[in-house]
Amino acid sequence: MNREHPLVLGIETSCDETGVGIVRGRTVLANVVASSMEQHARYGGVVPEVAARAHLEAIEPTVREALRVANVKLSDLDAIAVTAGPGLAGALMVGVGAAKGLASSTGLPLYGVNHLVGHIAADLLDQSDDNEVEYPQVALLVSGGHTSLLLANDLARDVQMLGETIDDAAGEAFDKVARLLGLPYPGGPSIDRAAADGDPMRFAFPRALSLPKDRERNRFNFSFSGLKTAVARTVEAIEQAGQAVPVEDIAASFRMAVADVLLNKAIDACQVTGVPRLLLGGGVAANQLIRQLAAERTAAAGIQLRVPPLSLCTDNGAMIAAVASERISAGFPASSGGFAADSTLPATDTQVSVGV
Ligand code: KG4
Ligand code: ZN
Repeated sequence: MNREHPLVLGIETSCDETGVGIVRGRTVLANVVASSMEQHARYGGVVPEVAARAHLEAIEPTVREALRVANVKLSDLDAIAVTAGPGLAGALMVGVGAAKGLASSTGLPLYGVNHLVGHIAADLLDQSDDNEVEYPQVALLVSGGHTSLLLANDLARDVQMLGETIDDAAGEAFDKVARLLGLPYPGGPSIDRAAADGDPMRFAFPRALSLPKDRERNRFNFSFSGLKTAVARTVEAIEQAGQAVPVEDIAASFRMAVADVLLNKAIDACQVTGVPRLLLGGGVAANQLIRQLAAERTAAAGIQLRVPPLSLCTDNGAMIAAVASERISAGFPASSGGFAADSTLPATDTQVSVGV
């Protein structure tokens, strides 16, 4: 095996993207994603059973396509990697089952990968600038499925959870609020578009868990369900008064509340840990205001900001392969064959059942 630049195929099926990526060391050779997003659109959110079935249908052609794009054969690979968790149980099982099948038929070592660590590893694959990735790094990972603040001391060995959402994920809040405003799914992009022409100061929506009393237990945790309810009440009150709902102003005020709380906590985390590096990951990193505020506030605080290209920010297989590649280079063994999909795998479990 080439330990310095291993050739790894990574499979990601934790949510609604069937992702298969192939990396050589930190270089992406293929990053193929089949999304079932359209099948969830009429429900306004990801339906787990629909996602699992879509993965079953997409997994084989997606693996084949990734091999074709990378121009490699299964027998060229050094290892297989797969998301073990966290994520939707049924969806994860499809990927883990497929990866185990591939590993046993080829005899290749199999690495179970933590999805959140995968999002952090996406940064290693970003070769669009010359900046070497340095650790420790604070990571703000925001998508439809998760909202987490992590401290990565070393990707392969030591990742700590600083905080996470105690209810809805931020992306989920975008999706739900879009529905309330009659905007199409996925909500993030539609709210982003509507907010562009709105007044972000018109409605003072709540910034949850941001009071001095929250510092002790929830300093780095998030909550978005109260915000969603506040938007719902506002819409109701305006409708009851027989007025037209100012969709653009509500979208802008809501987007501001989410961006503000995400970045306040992320920057606070950098300052408390003394780590002057912030990584943004997950689909919500596409948000125009979040990007803009992140750039402004990190610059003002002397923090280096890293935002990988969107194809690496959203769920993908290349980032999962990247984690295994780092573990191989660091000399870690593969996961034991007995590991299973774990929908609540903690972020701190960077190795997934090594030696169990
Ligand atoms: O990472 P991702 O593609 O998949 C997972 O959820 O795992 O993230 C999708 C989420 C959706 O909730 C979508 O509404 C949100 O990311 N999103 C955005 C934007 N683009 C996508 N949220 C806010 N602003 C955006 N521009
Ligand atoms: Zn994700």
